[in-house]
Amino acid sequence: MPSETLTIVDNRIGKTYEVPIENGTVRAMDLRKIRTSSEDFGLMAYDPGFMNTAACKSRITFIDGEKGILRYRGYPIEQLAEKSSFLEVAYLLYFGELPTQSQLDEFNNIVLSHTLIHEQTKKFIDGFRHDAHPMGMFLSTVAALSTFYKEGKNIFDAQNRLVQFERMVAKMPTIAAFCFRHSIGMPFVYPDGDLSYPANFLSMMYKGTQLRYKPHPVLERALDVLFILHVDHEQNCSTTTMRGIGSSHCDPFTALAGAAAALYGPLHGGANEAVLRMLMEIGSKDRIPEFIKRVKAGDGARLMGFGHRVYKNYDPRARIIKQVAAEVLEVTGRSPLLDMALEMERIALEDDYFVSRKLYPNVDFYSGIIYQAMGFPVDMFPVLFAIPRTPGWLSQWEEQILDPEQRIVRPRQVYLGSEVRDYVPMAGRVDPATVDAAAPQAV
Ligand code: CMC
Repeated sequence: MPSETLTIVDNRIGKTYEVPIENGTVRAMDLRKIRTSSEDFGLMAYDPGFMNTAACKSRITFIDGEKGILRYRGYPIEQLAEKSSFLEVAYLLYFGELPTQSQLDEFNNIVLSHTLIHEQTKKFIDGFRHDAHPMGMFLSTVAALSTFYKEGKNIFDAQNRLVQFERMVAKMPTIAAFCFRHSIGMPFVYPDGDLSYPANFLSMMYKGTQLRYKPHPVLERALDVLFILHVDHEQNCSTTTMRGIGSSHCDPFTALAGAAAALYGPLHGGANEAVLRMLMEIGSKDRIPEFIKRVKAGDGARLMGFGHRVYKNYDPRARIIKQVAAEVLEVTGRSPLLDMALEMERIALEDDYFVSRKLYPNVDFYSGIIYQAMGFPVDMFPVLFAIPRTPGWLSQWEEQILDPEQRIVRPRQVYLGSEVRDYVPMAGRVDPATVDAAAPQAV
């Protein structure tokens, strides 16, 4: 019977250690016991970018990157995208089980009752310059919510955590739409309780002088599906940030603002914006091979929307989104950008550079094209990612709060800086650049 342990021989001193293996992992703290002397700090794992470090145990999202599998609470993403709704998936993520009809109705009603935001928040949003990036406005406003709901800091009260979850799921579309309306100088549109979650968001975004805004059902459903696909993706950069900030036991609004900030970057949630800008910059199908050549030459250009730290196969979300893109463009009219994206995918998937590195389209490759066809400005794309990621971040945060093994996040470092040295008074300091310039040059 093989033993569930790992034997390590420290060749520096010839000592052998046996460490337990649990769930395919060894505990990093077991490495600390490996020391050359009693003064030695002990061995650490060096893992920049957390390429191979599990920081938590989770029961929320399962990904098999090699096979291209994504499941929330065990349910395949394909089934949820086809049969479920965003609010149902939000419920599933937080509570761990699909709701009954009455549970879902109640959840819908509660979320609806929280969609308004404090009137003071409007003034806050109004304070931003007209050309402020919506994501900057969005995440600052989310952080500001903590000043309205001070009880949010009672994070060890389960009922209190649930109320903040419902509040945030409800208010994100309102804040996002208000940020957009501010940037185009249009009056804010208040939530419409008779509309579905995605339809209400579209109404707050686009309602003009008509009495009621009713989106096209295909676009309403497309947005719901896109939201489902973005709900969670286990321990990515922004979720890790959510857990990292949450580990200091601050309120969830503040932690979520930090997570949204992490999402903003072009290597993460900002990639959909970057994909569209890339396609617009390339301009036409015939210029794609030239661009691919630049990417392969490594002169700074990346094929945005391609590649993933975890997926080494087609991102299952991208497959669904590609289908949604076709349905949306049936309604809104064909986009030359979709034709370019399809051509780019075709070329890349036949090219050894991308094949050998297992670089496939990710969730962001087609989502921007859909968002643009639905009238969202490019700047809004990361915000459109943050709205549905909210229940994911908060479910991960809830799991962390309830996990007795979790501690405040505090990684170690490998210090390679100067040894101790004495402070040099100003008069005694020399600028090395000046010394070099004055030095005699070799001939
Ligand atoms: N275009 C060209 N080459 C790439 C790309 C790309 N998009 N992505 C990775 N590579 C190459 C990279 O140059 C490297 O090549 P080499 O081995 O010759 O040095 C190799 O593939 C491995 O790349 P890496 O940067 O070590 O991979 P990573 O796991 O650190 O990065 C990534 C993952 C998503 C940041 C990266 O693939 C990337 O920058 N993609 C473009 C941005 C993007 O689409 N981001 C959205 C991710 S999905 C949404 C989300 O979940 O956040």
